[in-house]
Amino acid sequence: MKRICVVGTGYVGLVTGACLADLGNSVICLDIVDEKIERLRAGELPIFEPGLDAIVRRTVAAKRLSFTTDYSEGVPGVDYIFIAVNTPTGPDGAGADMSHVEDAAKSIAENLTHDVIVINKSTMPVGSGNLVSQRIHEHLRDTSLKVSVVSNPEFLREGVAVHDFKNPDRIVLGSTDRDAADAVAKLYLPLRAPIMITNLYTAEMIKYASNAFLATKISFINEMARICDLLGADVTEVAEGMGYDKRIGRAFLNAGLGYGGSCFPKDIKALAFMADEVGLHPQLIEAVMKINHDQRRLAVERLEAALGGSDSLRGKNIAVLGLAFKDNTDDMREAPAIDIINWLIEAGANVHTYDPVAVETAQRIQPDWQVRYCDDELAAVTGCQGVIIVTEWKRFRELNLAELRAVMAEVEGGPVLIDGRNLFNAEEATIAGFRYFGIGRGVERARGVTRSRGEKRSDTKAARNLHKYNGDLREQQ
Ligand code: UGA
Repeated sequence: MKRICVVGTGYVGLVTGACLADLGNSVICLDIVDEKIERLRAGELPIFEPGLDAIVRRTVAAKRLSFTTDYSEGVPGVDYIFIAVNTPTGPDGAGADMSHVEDAAKSIAENLTHDVIVINKSTMPVGSGNLVSQRIHEHLRDTSLKVSVVSNPEFLREGVAVHDFKNPDRIVLGSTDRDAADAVAKLYLPLRAPIMITNLYTAEMIKYASNAFLATKISFINEMARICDLLGADVTEVAEGMGYDKRIGRAFLNAGLGYGGSCFPKDIKALAFMADEVGLHPQLIEAVMKINHDQRRLAVERLEAALGGSDSLRGKNIAVLGLAFKDNTDDMREAPAIDIINWLIEAGANVHTYDPVAVETAQRIQPDWQVRYCDDELAAVTGCQGVIIVTEWKRFRELNLAELRAVMAEVEGGPVLIDGRNLFNAEEATIAGFRYFGIGRGVERARGVTRSRGEKRSDTKAARNLHKYNGDLREQQ
């Protein structure tokens, strides 16, 4: 049984701490926010993460998991200290803010009485291993102590973080001290995953490159979706057809309203910033970010076009289904719903919304929003002329569209359904009485969307783009 301290009780820290305790270790989770620790001590989780509750209860009962706000209680006597505090985007709007990490390193150093391995679990800019080591050595009271720093990036997805911890594709460890990396590897042996040991910089870069690649897959398929809309193909089938190729893989090829969350937007921005700092203009990831932003805008543009063009949202009731940045989480950091609701409000719409777990988060982070929070999907769409599905919640997939349609407002041609996550197909939605618009589901629908009242088919934006595209091609030939 190893003794471990985990600093930071957010999604990463709490999942890591509880799961390491579940593997038989003795873990103390430390956070400087009193309220979080009080709630944890009272048996309440400060975050929503499926499956975590049971593990916390079980390991607390077995006395292998405890909580503190005090470094002088958390640090002495442990063999490993994980740093899992947040590294938000910094005040310059690009690089990562390392102040929480630096504070943690200082507090760890000031309370150390023995040799220890410090593990950087949070996503930190390449080179942070050295920074943490430097800060610790600056503040050590007993300079004869040996402190080794190991970078151990996490690859957990919110919503399935417990599953991901227990079934990792790989464990990455980077250090200048091979023995320290080997010692950390021992903690993960029960998981029977491939373990890769690299130098510090490489481990840190593996994390950024992995997130950037996944974000690129998403922006790639979203660009394909735009093209599919113009050319008459269905992106969901395109993704399936591509996915059978083992070199490509089907995962992360779901076209939609783009990525959000606390990781991709922040990490991709930070990677671009790091590249820029060393004199390289990161062309691909710049494009990934731009496509992601434009994708959110698409939902509102399509709705507005379908309801009659410019200024048509003014005074309309619009339902937004889903607030969380993805399913199975209450997290709304960088959620597409934030931009979409703000744009709807700006356009003069009355927004009704429902999310199975993120309403409390929305009320906390957007206290000024004039939106109507509803108890379920049916209440949200009642009296609305249009609805946008923003989050891929499984329960939305199971909605009875005819039932929804029946309580919505009467609109010429039917109320509009913008299926921002491609949960339904056009046929079932049309039979239920909706004017349906998915993302990348074919040119006919794109033409319908972009055509404003009275405009001929050949004048639509989609048709114009198509002609321009063909013209450009002809010019090139
Ligand atoms: C992501 C990575 O998947 C994890 O491996 C990583 O550890 C984590 O970031 C992190 O750096 O901490 P997470 O942000 O929890 O995990 O969520 P994802 O499941 O990756 O989804 C991110 C966003 O992409 C969501 O908004 C989701 O809706 C969107 N997405 C995902 C798509 O639009 N299409 C897809 O095909 C997949």
